[in-house]
Amino acid sequence: MSSNTTLQERPRVNMFFATALLILVLLCLVCATWLKGKSKDQTLLPPGPPPLPFIGNIHQVKHRELLLSLQQFQEKYGPIFTVYFGSQPSVMLCGYDMVKEALIDHKDVFSGRGRRPLVESVIKGYGIIDSNGERWKQMRRFALTTLRNFGMGKRSIEQRIQEEAQFLVEEFSKTEGKSFDPTFLLGCSISNIICSIVFGKRFSYNDEHFLSLLKNITGALRFMNSGWGMIFYYFHRLLRHLPGPHQKGIRYLTDVKAFVQERVDESLDTLNADSTRHFIDCFLVKMQQDQQNPASEFHNKNLVASSMNLFFAGTETTSTTLRYGFLALLKYPEIQAKIQDEIERVIGDRCPSAEDRTKMPYTEAVIYEIQRFSDIIPTGVPHATTEDVSFRGYTIPKGTEVFPLLTTVLNDPKQFPQPGLFSPDRFLDDKGALKKYAAFMPFSAGRRMCPGEGLARMELFLFLTTILQNFTLTTVVSREDLDLSPECSSAGHLPRCYKMSVVPRH
Ligand code: HEM
Repeated sequence: MSSNTTLQERPRVNMFFATALLILVLLCLVCATWLKGKSKDQTLLPPGPPPLPFIGNIHQVKHRELLLSLQQFQEKYGPIFTVYFGSQPSVMLCGYDMVKEALIDHKDVFSGRGRRPLVESVIKGYGIIDSNGERWKQMRRFALTTLRNFGMGKRSIEQRIQEEAQFLVEEFSKTEGKSFDPTFLLGCSISNIICSIVFGKRFSYNDEHFLSLLKNITGALRFMNSGWGMIFYYFHRLLRHLPGPHQKGIRYLTDVKAFVQERVDESLDTLNADSTRHFIDCFLVKMQQDQQNPASEFHNKNLVASSMNLFFAGTETTSTTLRYGFLALLKYPEIQAKIQDEIERVIGDRCPSAEDRTKMPYTEAVIYEIQRFSDIIPTGVPHATTEDVSFRGYTIPKGTEVFPLLTTVLNDPKQFPQPGLFSPDRFLDDKGALKKYAAFMPFSAGRRMCPGEGLARMELFLFLTTILQNFTLTTVVSREDLDLSPECSSAGHLPRCYKMSVVPRH
């Protein structure tokens, strides 16, 4: 009986050993290939913490303390080092000198875009932010000229911002001195400016479609910044096809895409080439003009992706900066009072305009310091090398991901002494005129530098002055208890949640 059982089990045991042996051989092969690749990389790439197969350095990088981990690597390996997120190397650049040398002195070779897997799953390399080569050049040039106001109908971008700032004043008035979290209202108003530019239409702050658009945008950004978002970033090739929380992240983006496509279809039905109303109209006219040009990148996929890019890049960034700014002004009421003095001297009771900026250096200095201090995109957006490049004694192969760590530039003590201090005066000279610094790069630098800079600066100025012309911001929390450090130190910086109230000035 027992010898019978043994005879029956023998093939199963053999099968087990054969499978185990096969797995072992495969693992050895994978490790050998990986080690070969790694030793080849190591002779080329900047130094960095030793990576493990498959996971790279993920075990040494804490999601909620990503920047702290990177800072520790910087202390150990210097201002240029390599980190493996999964099996792919990423080169980190730290401090003004290093970032400038790459993005400005070698601007072409560092102008490629690194991976953004969640977005890639939905917009597949179309549009401005995630494209490369000729497509990127055409899309970027078009966005830049359109955002500079060419061919966008009768209302200038400035008027669109002024109008929205007045709507925000109305909404703030409705709070009647009660304390509130400004996140929602600021998000609505900044998003409406992009709606006005891209679709030619603003929405009321309780419009169902608008609210679901905002929900999807913040949902997608939150996912990208979450722990699972990082896991998806590392292992997207595998996870993309499996169920899990990342499918929700993908769904947020798919919903925004459908919303934008609907607006494109509506615009096409009512298009008048002689009287374009907004970004989509301008793009549609260019599509018609280029119909016979096979090299043209002006087609529906690039239109939808570019419009989505403007929403994602232009909504959270500016509203987060304003929200951070309001918090800083609550903590430093004397700075708020100085801006109000300048508003009274230069603007008085009329509507603030972009022209006022040149006459208001103090307010401009405060906005610069808010941007430097809030440091909202600390890791920068990933770049990639467009060809093999010799840089600082290393050879970085074509297609390598490169992170210009903007936080290390905005907080570079050689450029900004005592960087942890919120001090608008650092942007003023002895005569009270605005002082500019090459190292002030919240919008990054070089070929990929933010094309929305002009728009964002105008928004920050017009919103801040319009609000402080009408209200004084106050809080019941003592200033010592207002914490300006970011909520989480990951790829994006957000201010901690707070409530404020607004006291009408007139
Ligand atoms: C305070 C507000 C803003 C900040 C701090 C900011 C910052 C940045 C940064 C750091 C980048 C990455 C540049 C690089 O790859 O090195 C970027 C790219 C970009 N931003 Fe902004 N941005 C802001 C507002 C806007 C606005 C209002 C728009 C347009 C509506 C916009 C559109 C874009 C686009 C399209 C890109 C991609 C450029 C490319 O890949 O060529 N941004 N921005």
